[in-house]
Amino acid sequence: MTVTAIYPGTFDPITNGHIDLVERGAKLFDRLIIGVAAFPSPSKKPAFSNEERLEMARTALAHVPNVEVTGFDTLLAHFVAAENAQVILRGLRAVSDFEYEFQLASMNRQLIENVETVFLTPSEQYAFISSSLVREVAALGGNVDKFVHPQVAEALAARLQK
Ligand code: COA
Repeated sequence: MTVTAIYPGTFDPITNGHIDLVERGAKLFDRLIIGVAAFPSPSKKPAFSNEERLEMARTALAHVPNVEVTGFDTLLAHFVAAENAQVILRGLRAVSDFEYEFQLASMNRQLIENVETVFLTPSEQYAFISSSLVREVAALGGNVDKFVHPQVAEALAARLQK
């Protein structure tokens, strides 16, 4: 049986923490789809456009063979069904992630049957990284080279630096 997993997120932008999780997930599943959400939760207003977030993710993940980067503008459950995926992959960095992730996984279980949410933890060196912190550091002229792919760092400097 071929197992397809979807790793959904806003990826605004993709960070080394996301990349670490994708590299781990790619070893476990036959096909791993990175689903870049055009409309994530209503409280999130992405700094980068859908196309920019897709392009940055494709560049940063070009070295991982069984990975595809695809945008989606529907309910995650509908995207999972359309791709015939069996697994939703998410990262858990700290206890603080748990409550939201538990809610998300439980809601998705109500919306689509026979799909399991699988959680992986990133390497400890990335546990503190978040896209919004990286954007904040870049906007104020800080060096983000340790946290993102070089082309993402360039895009951040071009877009956000005051
Ligand atoms: N390493 C480092 N950082 C990580 C990480 C990792 N392994 N995993 C997550 N993060 C960070 C991200 O950088 C991001 O930080 P930010 O909030 O400061 O930007 C945060 O954790 C979570 O972002 P992300 O992983 O991109 O996920 P998300 O919570 O934005 O994604 C969706 C949520 C897209 C999965 C969800 O909103 C969704 O499914 N939307 C589609 C519509 C839908 O179906 N809604 C109903 C859902 S039940």
